Amino acid sequence: MAIISSKQPAANAEQPPKEKKKKSPKSVPQPANPTQLASVVEPEILQAETNNPEEKIQEESLRPSSLQEYIGQKDLKGVLDIAIQAAKVRQESLDHLLLYGPPGLGKTTLALILATEMGVNCKITAAPALQGPRDILGILMRLQPGDILFIDEIHRLPRITEEILYPAMEDFRLDITQGKEATAKIRSIPLPKFTLVGATTKVGSLTSPLRDRFGLVQKLRFYEVDELTLIVQRTAEILHTAITPEGAAEIARRARGTPRIANRLLKRVRDYAQVKACDLIDAEIASTAMEIYNVDPLGLDWVDRLLLTTMAEQFNGGPVGLEALAASTGEDRQTIESVYEPYLLQIGYLHRTPRGRVVTAAARKHLGLKGANDGGEQLSLLEKG
Ligand code: ADE
Repeated sequence: MAIISSKQPAANAEQPPKEKKKKSPKSVPQPANPTQLASVVEPEILQAETNNPEEKIQEESLRPSSLQEYIGQKDLKGVLDIAIQAAKVRQESLDHLLLYGPPGLGKTTLALILATEMGVNCKITAAPALQGPRDILGILMRLQPGDILFIDEIHRLPRITEEILYPAMEDFRLDITQGKEATAKIRSIPLPKFTLVGATTKVGSLTSPLRDRFGLVQKLRFYEVDELTLIVQRTAEILHTAITPEGAAEIARRARGTPRIANRLLKRVRDYAQVKACDLIDAEIASTAMEIYNVDPLGLDWVDRLLLTTMAEQFNGGPVGLEALAASTGEDRQTIESVYEPYLLQIGYLHRTPRGRVVTAAARKHLGLKGANDGGEQLSLLEKG
């Protein structure tokens, strides 16, 4: 299987909205003595999104290459397995597939696995690299029969690119307008049958004509701790790093349901073990190392704690609107919504109600906050009906 990647944005590409630079936490712990591994606050360590090219290259070597090797997402794997078998029997290409869910859960990996299982090429690109009609036309015209075209961040495609994709997806045809206005003619060019795999963290931002053209729409879920434990053990083996099941579980618990974070934490713990001349990572080494990186036992960082504490203390537990929370914490509203909230909702530390966010008693307990006003929870229960 050939992987042809063109994820770099074109020169005229729309740039993603700049995220506000993170403030440093108020007190950065300093190493007790210079020979010790520095106690570091690495704000990126728990971010599921990555823009680090080096990390992306390293991820390549850790990717599972078959559905059998892929850990977790049991239901989704079942759906894909049936789709693959049926397409093979009919000797057809796979239906177009839309994968959605938080970043770092394995959308690209699944597209590559589909290509391997089908014995076809996978062309990888992302919406920011497809801003002009020429960008998408060039890619579509070079596809071979059965190929998979993976478009990341597909919700960011410009309208003109989307409209080129409609006949390409539906009838495997390109409609090219030649000439101008009254004399314009549409020329149709046939395309080989291919499979579009679209990936998005914001399925609600997709237009319905685009969403409706996907035969399969599938959600990726956060991983369970036991699944992440297996992923950490598998990665440790690839990296020739010895780890006990308890050490792997300690890392898995802090990985926010996300394999990318689990693998990143493992690498940091491996550094710590190496500096301390430990040749086996056990639970104690893993948890000491992660304390140094300021990753708490549930994988919360200081921004998560700031958000929850602000809600509890300044807003009496909520409900609080996103704007007010952003203003009080100095965090960007989009970052709160797309980076922090999904995991806090997942672990039940935050509820979203029509009147705003409420902090839960579980979150207060974890943060050691007293004076729980569970009005927010009562409210959310009532609103859930
Ligand atoms: N590495 C990252 N994600 C993985 C997964 N889902 N299964 C196995 N190894 C992985």
